[in-house]
Amino acid sequence: MEKKFLPYGKQNITQEEIESVISALTGDYITQGPLVEKFELSLAKYLGVKHAVVVSNGTAALHIASLALDLKPGDAVIVPAISFVATSNAVLYCGATPIFADVDAKTGNILIESAEEAILLALKKGLIPKAIYPVHYSGLPCSIKDLIELARKYNIKIVEDSCHALGAMYRLNSEENFKMVGSYADMSVWSFHPVKHITTGEGGAVTTNCSILASKLKMLRSHGITKNSFDFTKQNLSLDEKSAEINPWYYEMQMLGYNYRLPDILCALGIAQLKRIDLFLEKRRQLADYYFKKLSGIENIILPLNDNVTAFSSFHLFPVKIDFDKVGKTRKQIIDSLKSYGIGCQVHYIPIPWQPYYEKNTDKFMCLDITNAENFYKEELSLPMYYDLNFDDIDRIADALRYSLGS
Ligand SMILES: Cc1ncc(COP(=O)(O)O)c(C=O)c1O
Repeated sequence: MEKKFLPYGKQNITQEEIESVISALTGDYITQGPLVEKFELSLAKYLGVKHAVVVSNGTAALHIASLALDLKPGDAVIVPAISFVATSNAVLYCGATPIFADVDAKTGNILIESAEEAILLALKKGLIPKAIYPVHYSGLPCSIKDLIELARKYNIKIVEDSCHALGAMYRLNSEENFKMVGSYADMSVWSFHPVKHITTGEGGAVTTNCSILASKLKMLRSHGITKNSFDFTKQNLSLDEKSAEINPWYYEMQMLGYNYRLPDILCALGIAQLKRIDLFLEKRRQLADYYFKKLSGIENIILPLNDNVTAFSSFHLFPVKIDFDKVGKTRKQIIDSLKSYGIGCQVHYIPIPWQPYYEKNTDKFMCLDITNAENFYKEELSLPMYYDLNFDDIDRIADALRYSLGS
């Protein structure tokens, strides 16, 4: 019998969730209605932050977070060389300069010493280092203590690219309580793409504890428009000539924004999915534990770091590293072999500065020595990780890996 194909990532949607979307579809508002705020409030509550602003995807979230920082030409942002291209593209959207720092060889997270070197490079080149965008790669949080110290030392902002890390936790040291990723940064950015912990199809959010940033983010996701009468600047237009009351149709565009709104239909799905986040996280944790058990001791496979001292991973990915030279097979050969056993994999990520666009536009960014990132890319393979995976599937994956590697 043909075995079912196991992709590397996949959503899980219940009948109840489908019904909540249908109910939104047949309601009075399919966009710009009450479910937007409801989703924002439940996301903020879950993360323990003051504000959440939902948008059409994680890339839009990175873009408006960058605009909310007033990023512009002459500014620099420190980003890890290993991430999805959206992390540094958001900096380019604003005409600012991304500076690629190296990553930790074990975790794929930004290397603090390299990030500091990048800040010094920005200063040397006459750029203003404004922020660092750490990525909590695969769901394992970066050291928040080190990030905060670095940000304070150089007076820069932290915008976490937390697209992998919903539900992950970190703490400042072993005496502190764990807090949700999102708690300590100036802003945190989230994605609700189908392979992530919860999904809205496409969707994203920015969270923050700063009310000034939150109101700016809300304007930026909707054309730069405000309908809040307290913010109006033009009395002659906003007020009725006789009663001096606010004109009911009135709005003001006060900055150049975008239409990055998330419709109510998708917020309905987000609200319902978020109710199951603990279940999603627990399952990923169990699957990861089982992977650790099944794969430990297999020759030529390095398993991801399982910290649990200062950080709890939310296991968006299960990234292993394989020394393909030592195995005597290319990564494509291993991937093809796994595919013949019905197993899908992915590679996260090609170093961003290697992308043709970046190679053609070397005047738009800077890059430090990224040897660790290059080696990380050469060895990385992301194994299937999603809610519907089970222990039998992981037995199958472990056997197939062993055969494919010849171990
Ligand atoms: C680290 C990281 N940043 C940003 C994004 C962009 O998110 P989205 O696909 O929702 O635009 C992703 C999505 O894959 C991601 O993994």
